[in-house]
Amino acid sequence: MAVTGTLQLRRFSARLVLFLAGFGVLNPGNCDEQVPLILWTSEGVSLPAQSPPAAGHVVGPQQLAGYLQRALRAGPKNVVLFLQDKMSVEDFTLYGGAFGNKQDSVFPNLEDALMSSSSPLVLASVSWPASSAVIGQLQDQLETSPLYMDPETLSQLRLNASSPALLVFRLPYGGGSDLMSAKEILSGNDELIGQVLSTMKTQSVPYTAIYTALQPSREVVSLSMDSGLGGGRSLLQARGHRERERERERQRKMKEKAQIYAPVEFKEGEDTCVLLWARSLSVSILRSGRWEEHDLTLSTFGEGVSPKLHGSSCDKTRARLVLNYENVLGHRSFKLIFAMNQRLYKVSARRWFTLDAVELEYDGTKATFNGSRNVYAPAEYSYRCESVTSFRWPLLVPRSSKDPANQWRVSFKDFQIQGFNVSGSEFSYASDCAGFFSPGIWMGLMTSLLMVLVLTYGLHMIMQLRTMDRFDDPKGPAISVPQIE
Ligand SMILES: *[C@@H]1O[C@H](CO)[C@@H](O)[C@H](O)[C@H]1NC(C)=O
Ligand SMILES: *[C@@H]1O[C@H](CO)[C@@H](O)[C@H](O)[C@H]1NC(C)=O
Ligand SMILES: *[C@@H]1O[C@H](CO)[C@@H](O)[C@H](O)[C@H]1NC(C)=O
Repeated sequence: MAVTGTLQLRRFSARLVLFLAGFGVLNPGNCDEQVPLILWTSEGVSLPAQSPPAAGHVVGPQQLAGYLQRALRAGPKNVVLFLQDKMSVEDFTLYGGAFGNKQDSVFPNLEDALMSSSSPLVLASVSWPASSAVIGQLQDQLETSPLYMDPETLSQLRLNASSPALLVFRLPYGGGSDLMSAKEILSGNDELIGQVLSTMKTQSVPYTAIYTALQPSREVVSLSMDSGLGGGRSLLQARGHRERERERERQRKMKEKAQIYAPVEFKEGEDTCVLLWARSLSVSILRSGRWEEHDLTLSTFGEGVSPKLHGSSCDKTRARLVLNYENVLGHRSFKLIFAMNQRLYKVSARRWFTLDAVELEYDGTKATFNGSRNVYAPAEYSYRCESVTSFRWPLLVPRSSKDPANQWRVSFKDFQIQGFNVSGSEFSYASDCAGFFSPGIWMGLMTSLLMVLVLTYGLHMIMQLRTMDRFDDPKGPAISVPQIE
């Protein structure tokens, strides 16, 4: 009786766990969707003290931008951003040795850095979408592109106190259900932070450091975009279904739009060799502190519109598409150029094409954005991306810090390009960039959510296992299990 009793209790508590997990799904706007953000400066640099928000107050996007702006206006513009996959304030209370046993802390390096900084700022709860936009905000304020780094490459970098830099270090976070490994990973991250900070010290360049995360760690579900009613599982199914619906809808819309206008086609002789399509193409220039935008879509695509393509070329390994415009942002002649290249990469034993550069040529000046590190696809496919820009989550970066491209921004929406192996005037299969928050990523998150649920259940069951308190003793009397109670 007792046995079945505890068993039922266990089942019930397992269900409770699942129910709570489901509850997390159902309550998006709850107070869990926040990450902490810690900002400090190198030793010897003093910042005007900023008062943190009142306890319990959640810092939103605008307020965060304000904090960052005030810190960067007065402080060093060499920013080291430690961006962890996930983090919640509980990570510090659990592993920070907060309950009097300091020697247990897994953050010794972080603590040292905060102690030695004159004005550290700790924001315990920054709303999650704001924190994931932190790179974009820093980029806007520093007017430089992020450099993704690891400690080894940092030691080779020459920093200069007078030119801003945004150095991003991505840090992992352990699976949500494995407490042991989360602790170890955080400890490893702290070691990396220490390593980076000591390298920065040898460079003797003052810096501002920020430690935050892309999303909270203490939450079973972090993708609650839209809530619904019903159990966790039916919600999941509904989501998956909705996701598919949305994808279908998107494709239908894409098709509709594609029927409205055909891609730009460059022909070498009889054969088409470059295809380009986008829902919108725009460029902006920075003039007296403001971005002036010019939309090129209507002069590029559409019924009866055929942009001049003189200067374009293509052969087996190189392709160059030149779109010629007039009177763009005060420039009489303006060219938007896509330079592509394809070659065999030994590592993958296949041919890849890269969009090496996007160039703007106007009145004798050339601004160049590099793209090759980010924009590529197998040579026989086309490349497609929902958003290719030079500013938010940039795929295109100015060639150098002196390049005129630094005063330009380009933005292409629903962008698709193919420069090699084009047959007819249709794109081949598209290799999608699957950037942040594309359906592909969301689908991946769904899968991991399911895994977390399963693991939580499994872990719970394992934790309930107890060693038997009696073992069968061959000499003693046999254990008898009564059949009837
Ligand atoms: C830092 O950059 C400035 C101008 O950008 C230059 O004058 C100076 O020499 C540089 N310092 C070092 C140490 O490279
Ligand atoms: C190019 O396309 C043709 C078919 O159109 C295919 O047979 C060939 O393998 C492709 N070559 C490359 C390098 O992708
Ligand atoms: C851009 O490409 C050029 C040539 O390939 C290279 O020298 C330069 O360092 C690149 N710039 C960036 C910011 O990657």
